[in-house]
Amino acid sequence: MKFSKFGQKFTQPTGISQLMDDLGDALKSDQPINMLGGGNPAKIDAVNELFLETYKALGNDNDAGEANSSAIISMANYSNPQGDAGFIDALVGFFNRHYDWNLSAENIALTNGSQNAFFYLFNLFGGAFVNGNKESVDKSILLPLTPEYIGYSDVHVEGKHFAAVLPHIDEVTHNGEEGFFKYRVDFDALENLPALKEGRIGAICCSRPTNPTGNVLTDEEMAHLSELAKRYEIPLIIDNAYGMPFPNIIYSDAHLNWDNNTILCFSLSKIGLPGMRTGVIVADSEVIEAVSAMNAVVNLAPTRFGAAIATPLVNDDRIKQLADNEIKPFYQQQAILAVNLLKDALGDYPLMIHKPEGAIFLWLWFKDLPISTTELYEILKDKGTIIVPSEYFFPGVDVSNYKHAHECIRMSIAADEQTLIDGIRVIGEVVRELYDGASSQKD
Ligand SMILES: Cc1ncc(COP(=O)(O)O)c(C=O)c1O
Repeated sequence: MKFSKFGQKFTQPTGISQLMDDLGDALKSDQPINMLGGGNPAKIDAVNELFLETYKALGNDNDAGEANSSAIISMANYSNPQGDAGFIDALVGFFNRHYDWNLSAENIALTNGSQNAFFYLFNLFGGAFVNGNKESVDKSILLPLTPEYIGYSDVHVEGKHFAAVLPHIDEVTHNGEEGFFKYRVDFDALENLPALKEGRIGAICCSRPTNPTGNVLTDEEMAHLSELAKRYEIPLIIDNAYGMPFPNIIYSDAHLNWDNNTILCFSLSKIGLPGMRTGVIVADSEVIEAVSAMNAVVNLAPTRFGAAIATPLVNDDRIKQLADNEIKPFYQQQAILAVNLLKDALGDYPLMIHKPEGAIFLWLWFKDLPISTTELYEILKDKGTIIVPSEYFFPGVDVSNYKHAHECIRMSIAADEQTLIDGIRVIGEVVRELYDGASSQKD
């Protein structure tokens, strides 16, 4: 069968499709697998209980009987393309209660997960633009700090339109301990980027906290990015999938700002509802109208089920309490456990860990590892431990000459304690053997 160019682009093997297949196969395997890959959130009892309770209440929440329950209203009717109006109103109230943003319903649209939002936004602001002289200008999405989220890489309908800046790598201490580093935005490189100066950037985007590294860009870095975006009259897209106020998996001192030039993307996935496929965009009304129009064509209307579950939790702030009291402490504890296990397994080896500041991952840097982490991934997979190698996390970067991009791995900390213990033991054994082998060859 012959596919169009569009068809060929979206059916070719991509980093993300290969990894999703590997993760799926690993889960189906009859061998025990230490699953430290993937971005699935953890199973947290208190979280699941609350969702289940809310879900059950949906069927019986109307005096007129079950036929008029929220569940039936949600499931039996399309919303308009902007998304479930009740949830949007709840979100407007919630954000205005907690932030000084003065939003109205015109500032919010829903999508089928935030991945769906990035597909829209990166195609709205990246690709061919026609200027006043009817000349086509190709604009890119600027990623001011890579490594960045793997899921951005292949979303452009035609081609790939990214410009990326490599990080400054600062060695830092964490809780008084050595062996950690933190990425910082290289503003010199960013300010001098030819594509920015020449009008070939359509938007700036960063995830905060960052998938894969657990980095949280500082308030100063965010303020600088916001100023830069305004100076060049392009939007700043902030991917807040792990950020505040929900799921709030963020341990550093950071604040969240919004203004008309900022596009904030939220998701219900990392609070524990990835199957609901619910994303939330907060933006200027012009962007919301564009997203709604795209929703109409691509989806008719976004899914309403996540909205139905989340609306009561947003209305009375239980979603924030859940994030603050259950979700954030859970991952903070997991990060401490995983760091301790890694230090025990590889303390005397050249392992550096990105300072854990948020999200559900640790990012490990094996300096001068004698093989690439893509090869390491294969060895670990054969031994039943799944991680994600770093080279996929550099959209817009030619990684062939960038050694650091082949020396890191992303490790999920959402797994249960025993899986972390077993997985890190295997990583430790393999990595120690590789370093030991390299040093004995030198001797
Ligand atoms: C940084 C980041 N952004 C966006 C997404 C997409 O999430 P979803 O489509 O489930 O909302 C993910 C998922 O892992 C992510 O890690």
